[in-house]
Amino acid sequence: MEKLYPESGVELNPFVSKHYDKLMNILSFGKYKSFIHRAVRDMNIQKEDVILDLGCGTGRNACLMAQYLGDKGSITGLDISEAMEKQFTENCRRYPNIEFINRRIDQPFQLDKTCDKVLISFVLHGFPQNIRENIIKNAFKHLRPGGTFNILDFGEFDMDAMPFYYRIPFQKGECPYAFDFIKRDLKGMLSGFGFGDFEEHLYFHNYGRLMVAHKIS
Ligand SMILES: C[S@@+](CC[C@H](N)C(=O)[O-])C[C@H]1O[C@@H](n2cnc3c(N)ncnc32)[C@H](O)[C@@H]1O
Repeated sequence: MEKLYPESGVELNPFVSKHYDKLMNILSFGKYKSFIHRAVRDMNIQKEDVILDLGCGTGRNACLMAQYLGDKGSITGLDISEAMEKQFTENCRRYPNIEFINRRIDQPFQLDKTCDKVLISFVLHGFPQNIRENIIKNAFKHLRPGGTFNILDFGEFDMDAMPFYYRIPFQKGECPYAFDFIKRDLKGMLSGFGFGDFEEHLYFHNYGRLMVAHKIS
């Protein structure tokens, strides 16, 4: 797949896509699983929620979210990677209320549903700022009033103040857009697009964050 944003670390190459979950487990020294369980719990998913997962990857998050849903709840995962589609379909096959759609999230798109929750997990940091804003607009458009945009990603922190054993892997492994993202005021950014009433959950010494933003206007 050709990259639209050459410096992006979330337009993954086929090797990383194929082994994404394993790599996350290794790079987090086995802590990724419990972290993601906590973050999904903190989303406060209700049985009937209609959920949109932007840049859904392998379906790991979708399978966890599905455990909170009843028969009337559903999850739609959007991604552009064939390798991710294959894993998502395989991993989520036992859930009839989960679907995958091959769709770009960085451009306007239509869906025939309005959602209670939109999740974007470790995707938003990997784009230039004007493209992040397109994605935020897409989330806003597909949410019902009062619905929540759940951004699970890096928090706001000073990279130079990180202990070296976190800083070096972060500097080597992440893309320049991520270095920009961690300096941004995410609440301020979201407020400008009609979101408010924020809830913040912090993980991993505050390097990871779930921002829950309500659609206000
Ligand atoms: C770092 S992975 C995160 C996957 C998943 N959200 C998770 O937390 O495990 C980034 C994902 O975003 C997808 N992606 C990148 N650019 C995209 C785009 N423009 N539209 C849709 N998906 C995209 C990639 O294919 C990949 O699955």
